[in-house]
Amino acid sequence: MDALTALHSRVSVSRLTDPAPDQQTLNNLFKAAMRAPDHGLLRPWRFLTVQGAARERLADIFVQATLQDEPDITAAKLDKLRGKPLRAPMIIIAICSPKDHPKVPVLEQQLATGAAVENMMIAAHAQDVGAIWRTGPMATHETVTRALGLTGPESILGFIYLGSIDGPRRPLKEEDFNDYFQDW
Ligand SMILES: Cc1cc2nc3c(=O)[nH]c(=O)nc-3n(C[C@H](O)[C@H](O)[C@H](O)COP(=O)(O)O)c2cc1C
Repeated sequence: MDALTALHSRVSVSRLTDPAPDQQTLNNLFKAAMRAPDHGLLRPWRFLTVQGAARERLADIFVQATLQDEPDITAAKLDKLRGKPLRAPMIIIAICSPKDHPKVPVLEQQLATGAAVENMMIAAHAQDVGAIWRTGPMATHETVTRALGLTGPESILGFIYLGSIDGPRRPLKEEDFNDYFQDW
C-alpha cells in the first residue's frame, strides 16, 4: 500500500484476533515510530510489548487497581475488566518518558510520542494489521503505572491493541476536510 493510500484509509479496528503480527511486521512498526518528528531528537518515548500470557498479568494489574477504587465492584464487571487486555493478541503500551530540556517542554515530548504512536498505527494499517489506540482510566491509575515500572514524569499515552482483523473493516465516514481548513 502506498503512503497516501494508507494515510487516507486508516481506520481503527476493535475486533482483533490471532495471530499477532510477526516480528518482521512489528519491526516495520517500530522503525516507523522512530521516524516521528521529535524536537531536539530526545526520543522521549518507550514502548512495552505485551503478548500471550503477559496480557493476563496486565489484566491482573487492572483488576488490582480497580478493586482499590471500587472494592464492591460486581464479579461481572470485574470479569469484563479482566477480559479487556485479552481483546487482541498483542498490546503495545506507549509511554512518554520526558527528558529535562531547556527548550523542549513536556507537552512537545508528549506530542512527539503521540506522533510515534500514529506512525505505528499507519504502518500497521499499511501491512493489513488491525490496530486501535485506547486509554481509559487504567492509563493514568497509579497502581498500573507503578506496576508497569513507570517512574517520575513518565506517563502512559495509550494501549495500542494490535492483531489480525476479525470481520469487515468499519467503512470510512466521508468528511469534508474543508470544514477544518481556512485560508488566513
Ligand atoms: C489519545 C487517544 C485515546 C483514545 N482512547 C480510546 C479509548 O479508550 N477507547 C476507545 O474506544 N477509543 C479510544 N480512542 C479513539 C480510537 O482509537 C479511534 O481513533 C476513534 O474511535 C476513531 O476511529 P478511527 O480511528 O477509525 O477514525 C482514543 C484515541 C486517542 C487518540
